[in-house]
Amino acid sequence: MASRRVIDAVEKLLQAQGSFRTRDLCRATRLVRQGAQRQVAQLIREGRVTATGEARARLYRRAPEAAARFQFPMPGTDAARAWTTLARQHPAVGALPPAAREVAEYVLRELVDNAATYSGGKNLWVEVRPGDPFELAVEDDGVGLFERLRREVGCASRVEAAQEVGKPRLGACTGEHAGEGLFFVLRTADLVELDSGGLRLVRDRLRDDHALMQAPDRLGTRVRFAVARGRRVTLAAEVATWTTRFRITRGSVRVKLMEYGTHFVSRAEARRMLAGMDHLSDLTLDFAQVEGVGAAFADELLRVWAPAHPQVRLETVGANELVADTLRRTRMKDEG
Ligand SMILES: Nc1ncnc2c1ncn2[C@@H]1O[C@H](COP(=O)(O)OP(=O)(O)OP(=O)(O)O)[C@@H](O)[C@H]1O
Ligand SMILES: [Mg+2]
Repeated sequence: MASRRVIDAVEKLLQAQGSFRTRDLCRATRLVRQGAQRQVAQLIREGRVTATGEARARLYRRAPEAAARFQFPMPGTDAARAWTTLARQHPAVGALPPAAREVAEYVLRELVDNAATYSGGKNLWVEVRPGDPFELAVEDDGVGLFERLRREVGCASRVEAAQEVGKPRLGACTGEHAGEGLFFVLRTADLVELDSGGLRLVRDRLRDDHALMQAPDRLGTRVRFAVARGRRVTLAAEVATWTTRFRITRGSVRVKLMEYGTHFVSRAEARRMLAGMDHLSDLTLDFAQVEGVGAAFADELLRVWAPAHPQVRLETVGANELVADTLRRTRMKDEG
């Protein structure tokens, strides 16, 4: 096996520059050229890296099938950025078929959002295990999901708190959070395993199976989830099973927001509404009878999602004065 020191140095190089040459590894490890080459040959045999080019121009990259672990500092980790980083750093993430990729991105962002908001931890790790199903895991070193929920919901035990998971409006539901993140996570990924404080909750979407069991105690929370590469059901279809809200006219989509609420505050709400809308040419959001929208919701819609999907013609209609003002101020942030 390649030495731990070399594996760590290679991981650093890959995360910093995407690829490396033998001389980069020599510099990083103080190995002589021959020693570095022997180690890289071993890494190739182990399926960790692949090589292109000849002699001194030989370039090494992460092998598409290699498992990898990425660390993000907290606080300060942004969910959208975490996904973009993974997609840039690991070829298998970028190469996922669209339906699987969409679900993986959505679930990962919900989990990173949660860890950053609630765990109180210092570190966040994301593990990528390419394979079929494709697996991702989000881990933090914070207070622990079931423990935090126990306190928030006022349960006597963690087991009791764990039994709440999967219900809508989970937790304290403060500010811009609707308490629906985990509700949708459990219903969109093919397999989800929530692990925290000696308990493990497993949800198998395909078998419609749910189990709570004991597990080795651990610091923080680890959520592992899997998505079949050949997944056919789109995120939008899955979400729509749980919320009825789409009106389809002439190939474009019109979403009547009032069908599922009159106040929209969180980024998570915006993401759920926009899930699966990536491939549209026209999207009309009808705000008729919506009383208010929060800055976070408007920001996710107009400054995160819209610029990331320039191919979608986004129109907002029917907004009352207050809502129109929030949308206008959000748009102006980009100009000012
Ligand atoms: N990594 C974590 N560490 C500690 N507590 C967590 C973690 N993830 C979730 N929780 C707890 O679970 C609760 C529910 O999370 P969930 O994502 O379902 O809803 P939310 O984040 O409050 O709202 P939304 O996701 O709709 O914005 C949170 O209020 C929090 O108490
Ligand atoms: Mg959440």
